[in-house]
Amino acid sequence: MRRKIVAGNWKMNGDAELVRDVAAQAADAISGAELVVCPPYTLLSAAANHLPTGVGLGAQNVSEYSSGAYTGEVSAAMLLEMGCRYVIVGHSERRALFGEDSPRVAAKFSAAKEAGLIPILCVGETLAERDAQRTEVVVAEQVGAVFEAVGSHAFSAAVIAYEPVWAIGTGRTATPEQAQSVHACIRQRVAEHDADSAASLPILYGGSVKPDNAEQIFAQEDIDGGLIGGASLNAEGFLKIHRAVVGG
Ligand code: PGA
Repeated sequence: MRRKIVAGNWKMNGDAELVRDVAAQAADAISGAELVVCPPYTLLSAAANHLPTGVGLGAQNVSEYSSGAYTGEVSAAMLLEMGCRYVIVGHSERRALFGEDSPRVAAKFSAAKEAGLIPILCVGETLAERDAQRTEVVVAEQVGAVFEAVGSHAFSAAVIAYEPVWAIGTGRTATPEQAQSVHACIRQRVAEHDADSAASLPILYGGSVKPDNAEQIFAQEDIDGGLIGGASLNAEGFLKIHRAVVGG
């Protein structure tokens, strides 16, 4: 059985109060699915101190370099020391707004893995790419760059999040069928390199997942949980989404 995961991506939001709220709600989190919180760097320490054991902590970005004169960057080893188990790499906002192309994202993925973090690789197409029927090509390129940098066992201890760019923060979700079809295609791509890691790879869906649509999405065969943006900023709603993954 594949691990199920619900991860909250706070982006540049949240404060100490949200850390305490999530920590309080997470104390009663049901088992059977991992709960992961990815706050901004500045809240990692508070989150590490307050979150109950068993809740995973993740960062939203990591440097591809291990140390040195890289002002403003944070290395994978530093995140690990902070108590992180996960790190998001290649979120579409980083690709689109901060110029991170697939080779750079792959270098970050590699740095995270080498340090012992579990990378959550985000992939997904824009609306123009979907309309041009290029979804599978785009996602295959994003996944392929990681295989090229890390080798055929790249996804042996990793997570992929499929996040169609047009569904992020828009209130517009991919239909469960649309998402399932891309998830299956991603798993197939990974299987072409390594059948074992494809079989155990958690593939999360992200893009306007809310407490009221989560169960339907999570019920799909190849959807192993979610990466939640806006709805993770409300502790109660976030935990409802977490419960939905076990029902699904
Ligand atoms: P959203 O964001 O849930 O607010 O659409 C998801 C994400 O960007 O990871």
